[in-house]
Amino acid sequence: MRRAVCPGSFDPVTNGHLDIVGRAAALFDEVVVAVGVNKSKSSSRMFTPEERMDMLRRACEPWPNVSVRGFTGLLTDFCAEHGIQAIVKGLRAVSDFDYELQMAQMNASLTDVETVFVPTSPEWSFLASSLVKEVATYGGDVSSLVPGFVHEQLVARVAERGTGA
Ligand code: PNS
Repeated sequence: MRRAVCPGSFDPVTNGHLDIVGRAAALFDEVVVAVGVNKSKSSSRMFTPEERMDMLRRACEPWPNVSVRGFTGLLTDFCAEHGIQAIVKGLRAVSDFDYELQMAQMNASLTDVETVFVPTSPEWSFLASSLVKEVATYGGDVSSLVPGFVHEQLVARVAERGTGA
């Protein structure tokens, strides 16, 4: 059984994330989408971990071999606990590579987990959850960048919070 993890913050899940998850689902027998709590970004979260996981579960329904879990602590510990041999990461551009390589090498130094880089499809290469949130906060149209139900929740959250301007 070849099992991989697609880790991330997913705040919120975008079409770019789903591009990578779907391609990982075609490469591996099982894929776990792991929603991490990255303390350095926690102040800029728009959605709670439960909200992010609910959105991901719905978005990943097309792939029967994909499940969604939350995790805290080290990703390598999560991999060991769940019998995961590979970490799948999307690379949007060269600018992603430095940090992703560093994380892959750090994770490899901690355990024997392999990191597999998948090039993001060109149509999503500019896409980042942080930009989606920023554009949505100022009323921009991001409806083509996230699943429809995610867009609805994004618009509702922005309406609750306001732009802060
Ligand atoms: O979507 P993000 O914010 O880029 O996801 C980052 C994430 C959650 C994948 C990363 O921060 C992570 O792996 N966190 C778990 C803690 C850990 O293992 N840190 C060491 C990384 S070498």
